[in-house]
Amino acid sequence: MSTNIESERMLETPRPPFLQRIEFGGDYNPEQWSPQIWDEDVQLMRRAGVTVATVGVFSWARLEPRPGEYCFKWLDDILDRLHKGGIQVMLATATASPPPWMATLHPDSLPETAEGTRLGPGSRQHYSPSSSAFRTHALRLVEKIVERYAGHPALCAWHIGNEYGCHVPKSYDTESTTAFRAWLQQKYGTVAALNDAWCTAFWAQEYQSFEEVSVPRATPTFPNPTQMLDFDRFSSDALLHLYLAELSIVRRITPDIPVTTNFMGMFKSADYWSWVQHLDFISDDVYPDPADEDSYVGLAAQRDLMRSLAAGKPWIVMESATSAVQWRSVNVPKPRGLHRLQSLQAVARGADGILHFQWRQSYGGAERFHSSMVPHAGPESRIFKEVCSLGSELADLGQLTGLRVQADVAFILDWDSWRAVEQDAMPSTVSYLDHLLAWYRPFLRAGITVDFQPASADLSVYAMVVAPMLHVVTERTAENLARVVDGGNVLIVGCFSGVVNEDLHVWLGGYLGPLRPILGVRVEEYAPVNPGLPLAIDGLVKGTASTWQDVVVNEDAEVIASFMDGYAVSSPALTRREKNNGAAWYVATLPSPELMDQLVARWVGESQVTPLLAAPVDGVEAVQRGDITFLINHRAEEREVEIGPSEIVRLGGYQVFSNAITTNSNDGVTSRAEFHSC
Ligand code: GLA
Repeated sequence: MSTNIESERMLETPRPPFLQRIEFGGDYNPEQWSPQIWDEDVQLMRRAGVTVATVGVFSWARLEPRPGEYCFKWLDDILDRLHKGGIQVMLATATASPPPWMATLHPDSLPETAEGTRLGPGSRQHYSPSSSAFRTHALRLVEKIVERYAGHPALCAWHIGNEYGCHVPKSYDTESTTAFRAWLQQKYGTVAALNDAWCTAFWAQEYQSFEEVSVPRATPTFPNPTQMLDFDRFSSDALLHLYLAELSIVRRITPDIPVTTNFMGMFKSADYWSWVQHLDFISDDVYPDPADEDSYVGLAAQRDLMRSLAAGKPWIVMESATSAVQWRSVNVPKPRGLHRLQSLQAVARGADGILHFQWRQSYGGAERFHSSMVPHAGPESRIFKEVCSLGSELADLGQLTGLRVQADVAFILDWDSWRAVEQDAMPSTVSYLDHLLAWYRPFLRAGITVDFQPASADLSVYAMVVAPMLHVVTERTAENLARVVDGGNVLIVGCFSGVVNEDLHVWLGGYLGPLRPILGVRVEEYAPVNPGLPLAIDGLVKGTASTWQDVVVNEDAEVIASFMDGYAVSSPALTRREKNNGAAWYVATLPSPELMDQLVARWVGESQVTPLLAAPVDGVEAVQRGDITFLINHRAEEREVEIGPSEIVRLGGYQVFSNAITTNSNDGVTSRAEFHSC
């Protein structure tokens, strides 16, 4: 390796340690380009203010062209050049996609679908997470890479794998079947316990031994729900174990180098609550659709989830697009100013880095129409100019690094409930995320910052806890939620909650099960409602709702409002039970956006939560990082926002106002230093 003191000397600017400023950069795939371009790349990175490049994510075939034959010279060269240019390197373990020889040598390493189709090479991520051949070769490569670059001065962090489970979240191959059986044996101990949990008395599914149990391949009709959920859990664990196997090598050789892998926001196939303890900082890949003017709601929620997963550790955007992606049916480019706006939104919600996929736009391959930092048009382009201006703007925001975002409200995000409600053979087709976001939106509109938490978390620090659809409830989670109310805080539970336990067995005698005494109500029946049919609600609160009605029986609560129509006509739609100065609300439907705004205002009134906005304004969000307030207008049109008594801020289209932004950005989107009172 040619790392040396000379290249150290050529560093023009001393670098602050990793994550001690807002990092800026992207995935760098130099193997797609000739060494002449590499020099230009480093120069352009410097011009753009790039601080870090993620290198080697898809380099396995170039690093190990034949099994056991390694070729690191080109990577040495790249790392040296980057270091010389003052660019740090987040070095990938290069295991995201195996080289073609893997499939030739080990066809069993290929993943299989539920229908039994073997997925072939020629794309990426063509491996089964449980393949022992893949694992052996991958770990051998990781060891080589980590040993070789452990002391390289450009190395600032390890990027393990890439987007675990993105294309192959589950595999149904033979090795996965064996691993699933072992996982089940470990979980249940005896096949009788498995039969009990899976309720196999139904449809003659009783197993006599673990050998008879399989992964849930395609079946004639509805498969066993608990088997499906266990397979979801197993598949998430299989990906995690692969990550952990690489991690243990990295930790052994470089215990002081921080480690991450990139998450994909709210990704159903990997229960990130069980991953986070194994990452030193959290990374997220995020590609909102520029054609969807409401995508900022999910985007804000995704940032909040990353911050919550990080739980005090740093988090960064590992991948974002400067403009269009290439994987939607219509790939609309980002209008001028939108990428800057979205990047600042991430920073406002706690991110300490804005990175991209990818540095230079490919001229060939499946991603040649995906935008990048250096587009096909080259550096003399609008996109590259905007990249440079974003780089310099983020460099000026260094004082934000490490500042916390405080949330007084927690939302319960429960992977088991998510997976369960989206199974087949349910009362209705439910999108857990759509439901969650319908609840999140009014909080965002009010300027109330939300943390996400698992149902088992310590919730005592939150003035308000919202469980929009906690379908799976155990005695322990119920006890945890009871403590919210006992502590004098507000608990809000949404419809179709408390229906089943962790084995998906229904709580008998009235749905809500162990939540009944907390809420003071039980649910006798469900009445899903066809899309588009409004439901009227009347009482102390009036408005409309949609999608769902629980037929609620009041036991020990105050009925705030009842259904005026639909199957559940005259049964309670909104209830409230007070205890120890705390309150537990049950919301037996999905309130309309207008009713949601009304309800949030009411809940704010009875808790210690202070919204940042005096009133919601369409497309505008407000958030505070440390003592710095950000106001963000996600609409192309101007907006006027009231942030306090008679304090009005006028926001142009795609504008961000913050007392942290002191310069006018040179991309034509102006920022102002101060709020204006009038
Ligand atoms: C993911 C991958 C990248 C790239 C982008 C394209 O995030 O990690 O390698 O394929 O998608 O949007």
